[in-house]
Amino acid sequence: CGIVGYIGKRDVAPLLLEGLQRLEYRGYDSAGIVITGKPAAGKAAALKMVKAKGRVRELEARVPKRFAGTTGIAHTRWATHGAPSDENAHPHLDPEGKVALVHNGIIDNASQLRVKLEADGVVFLSETDTEVLTHLIARSQAPTLEEKVRQALKLIEGTYGIAVLHADFPDRIVVARNGSPVVLGIGEKEMFVASDVAALVSHTRQVVTLDDGEMATLKADDFRTYTTEGSTTSATPTTVEWEAESYDMGGHDTYMHKEISEQPDAVDRVLRGRIDDRFSTVHLGGLNLDAREARGVRRIKILGCGTSYHAGLIGAQLIEELARIPADAEPASEFRYRNPVVDPDTLYVAVSQSGETYDVLAAVQELKRKGARVLGVVNVVGSAIARETDGGVYVHAGPEVCVVSTKCFTNTVVSFALLALHLGRIRDLSVADGKRIIAGLRRLPEQISEILATEGDIEKLAAQYAQASSMMFIGRVRGYPVALEASLKLKEISYIHAEAYPASELKHGPLALIEPALPTVAIVPDDDLLEKNRAALEEIKARSGPILAVAHQEQEKADHTIVVPKNETELDAILMGIPLQLLAYHTALALGRDIDKPRNLAKSVTVE
Ligand code: G6P
Repeated sequence: CGIVGYIGKRDVAPLLLEGLQRLEYRGYDSAGIVITGKPAAGKAAALKMVKAKGRVRELEARVPKRFAGTTGIAHTRWATHGAPSDENAHPHLDPEGKVALVHNGIIDNASQLRVKLEADGVVFLSETDTEVLTHLIARSQAPTLEEKVRQALKLIEGTYGIAVLHADFPDRIVVARNGSPVVLGIGEKEMFVASDVAALVSHTRQVVTLDDGEMATLKADDFRTYTTEGSTTSATPTTVEWEAESYDMGGHDTYMHKEISEQPDAVDRVLRGRIDDRFSTVHLGGLNLDAREARGVRRIKILGCGTSYHAGLIGAQLIEELARIPADAEPASEFRYRNPVVDPDTLYVAVSQSGETYDVLAAVQELKRKGARVLGVVNVVGSAIARETDGGVYVHAGPEVCVVSTKCFTNTVVSFALLALHLGRIRDLSVADGKRIIAGLRRLPEQISEILATEGDIEKLAAQYAQASSMMFIGRVRGYPVALEASLKLKEISYIHAEAYPASELKHGPLALIEPALPTVAIVPDDDLLEKNRAALEEIKARSGPILAVAHQEQEKADHTIVVPKNETELDAILMGIPLQLLAYHTALALGRDIDKPRNLAKSVTVE
């Protein structure tokens, strides 16, 4: 979901609608806007609200011509409690129309509170958990809006990022954060609030990110932050690195295409300033792990969700290969619920593009509570996970807007290669191998460009595979996470069923599925497993299964081969996934899918 708010001198509705457009990628089954209208002479200010199921443009169409005001809050919603509908869209108003609230997160005790409020005669207008909070604020007898919000928040359990308007306090917006991001944008005699800097950067790059348990009051020419207990906190604005233009589509038809195309530059950026040729290693300034501590690490555990988890799987292999430290990756969501053994000699690494994914954040918090050392591999500077971890590596991919991750995946994997090289050179990786890997890393941007130049061929292949109702992806060792990620990408945006298997596991089950109607995409690098992989292709061919190979040389048994440039064996996985991003893209395009906003998915899942 997305929140945006403004208080200042400008006409608020167009500003908020523009902000919502920029947040749409976070969730978009409904949207709404509320503003403080100009009070008639001698009358109190009144709130005016419009909501609509569907996309932001649906909402825009409903906003009346006369919708003047200079203070307002707005929301795009991704349904959790209650189906997408006009009623369930945010903002939520109390029956008197005095309090308006937008909320990201989940109120866990909403049903208990609802029962109590209904017993008191409160009539609910929606099925959402959020509406409970609106009524609690409206019913508070406290003299200030801040105090009303504080009292209401004391009664709820759960996660929230909220913004509140009150007709009796028209000079302010009150916001609060616990588990869902809230960023203040500091302007000249105007203030913004949003759940994501994307909604602010075209107006101001001075931001303050709230911590959990923090609240803020925004007035047109002033803001202050304090805890939910009421004590003042210090908030120094920081400058957002990303330009507003980086959020534009830049001549591409979709963000996904733009972000795939940006990968050579993005990889160049993650390497820049980090390579140390003198010692054939890399500098990772934010790691906060000195050589002695690094030598003491006995094991590395990587945690992430979705595509970031897949990047972590490749990262674990890179760490094992280059640094010879036992490493593995696990979905953060699983890890946090299985009462994991937290070992003091293990280094934990949390991976997240947004730095806000709730399951990852919760895993980090649990680990920290148990005294573990946790690093972050994160894209969004200053995000919750970046701030909760003890140090880490920023992946510098630039903003990623498309719901599915491409350039961030690649940059995350490259970041892991840097981490692995760094740890390896502290331990047993030789100078010669260090040099070899560095040279390989430097070749990546050029080689990615070579792959992107074959887009036309991949598009033709996609036209054929778009007919399939299901696809199999296989790979071995380094190729297996590539297969997993390629299969995820395809299912996310094309809605074609896809699954990924280690090639070695075919004979233990999935071979039963192979038939002419089930194409297999096989990752076949020129490494020590080449012959084994070829044998798998033969098994598939013997069952008349169509094969598309991604390989370093033409594969005789395959119907088609996408040949990718060879790098150092350890780094090959980084390149082999890239043509498959394009394959997923063109398959989805051929099927007429809404590529940047696949159904049922959101860019960052800040709820459980
Ligand atoms: C969501 C997105 C995925 C993403 C995952 C993790 O599920 O749809 O594309 O990989 O979250 O996001 P993160 O920001 O933590 O990398």
